[in-house]
Amino acid sequence: MVRVILSSGNQHKISELKSILGEFDLEVISKNDIGYSEFEVEEDGDTLEENSLKKAMELWKKTGNIVIADDTGLFVEYLNGEPGVYSARYAGEDATYEGNNKLLLEKLENVPIVKRKAYFKTVVSIVDSNGTSFKVEGICKGLIGLEPEGDNGFGYDPIFIVEGLNKTFAQMTDSEKNKYSHRGKAVRNLKNIIGEILK
Ligand code: IMP
Repeated sequence: MVRVILSSGNQHKISELKSILGEFDLEVISKNDIGYSEFEVEEDGDTLEENSLKKAMELWKKTGNIVIADDTGLFVEYLNGEPGVYSARYAGEDATYEGNNKLLLEKLENVPIVKRKAYFKTVVSIVDSNGTSFKVEGICKGLIGLEPEGDNGFGYDPIFIVEGLNKTFAQMTDSEKNKYSHRGKAVRNLKNIIGEILK
């Protein structure tokens, strides 16, 4: 069976990706499963594209396996695209999910709901066993809620209301989130590429 390594140690992301890639005859494992839990690359690119490619390529150099890496950002229109590529460390280097959410809600204090438009964007890079890279993306539009709602998911999920659904990602089951999410869309877009790589 062909092995695919996910260049992430985030359990939420790993289970999301595994469930979306479940239909392929692949051994999908995370970098942690092969002893690379400490392996981190500095996400110093100016774009999601640069960071996801760097994460995938560096792990391919170490393993030679097919590697998938994603980079995601939340882009808030009223804040000119903040936090964007800095979403993980919006409230500082050691920021927690709660800290990031709190800061974002503070920056949007008194901003009415109609002006709280935002979108998540995920860029997924895949490097095949020859070192050739491919890229896909997925976008999910929504609004930043007035306060956190829901207990599922991670990151900005409790404050991101999905367009047209009137509930946050944190109020959805994993499979429901996968259906609408930026990452779900990006990984579904990846399926064609994986099909080609596996030929
Ligand atoms: P990453 O670089 O892909 O790990 O994502 C950067 C940051 O964006 C994470 O630390 C989370 O705070 C946030 N993030 C990424 N994906 C999601 C998601 O699906 N829901 C909510 N927040 C997310």
